[in-house]
Amino acid sequence: MERTLILIKPDAMQRGLAGEVISRLERRGLKIVAIRMLKVSTPLAKKHYAEHEGKPFFKGLVEYITSSPIIAAVFEGNGAIKGTRQTMGATNPLEAATGSIRADFGLEKGRNLTHASDSPASARREIALFFGDMPPTAWKRDTDAWVFE
Ligand code: RTP
Ligand code: MG
Repeated sequence: MERTLILIKPDAMQRGLAGEVISRLERRGLKIVAIRMLKVSTPLAKKHYAEHEGKPFFKGLVEYITSSPIIAAVFEGNGAIKGTRQTMGATNPLEAATGSIRADFGLEKGRNLTHASDSPASARREIALFFGDMPPTAWKRDTDAWVFE
């Protein structure tokens, strides 16, 4: 089954929305296989967002993600990568689909509450970055047969 990395960013943590984010992904049918809370260091932030280095928003992005503790988690399920990004909505909350996390709780790109891997290669890279020392736990959930055909 596919795995994806999600981050509950500092604004979502400060606003008490961590449970809301986790709950929405769980209710969708996705299964938690790893979770931890951490304060992202500047080197980790720069590695995680390496693809954005040099862009005008990079400095602000690194300051944002390192500003307060976050929760990192790995969710598993068929369609996990696409489904999770759909549940989170488009990068700009004003363009995110109604009912998505970013549309329901956000207004600005730079305070968009969550991160989710955008491809299988990104997911592998990001899971290794955040969980290299604590590999995800594969487990059989009794409800899996009611979510996955
Ligand atoms: P993420 O990586 O956080 O899941 O978000 P994403 O794929 O939807 O967006 P991406 O293009 O990868 O951008 C990463 C994060 O950088 C911030 N950003 N700010 N001010 C801006 O123009 C701008 N553009 C991007 C957002 O926090 C975005 O989630
Ligand atoms: Mg991205």
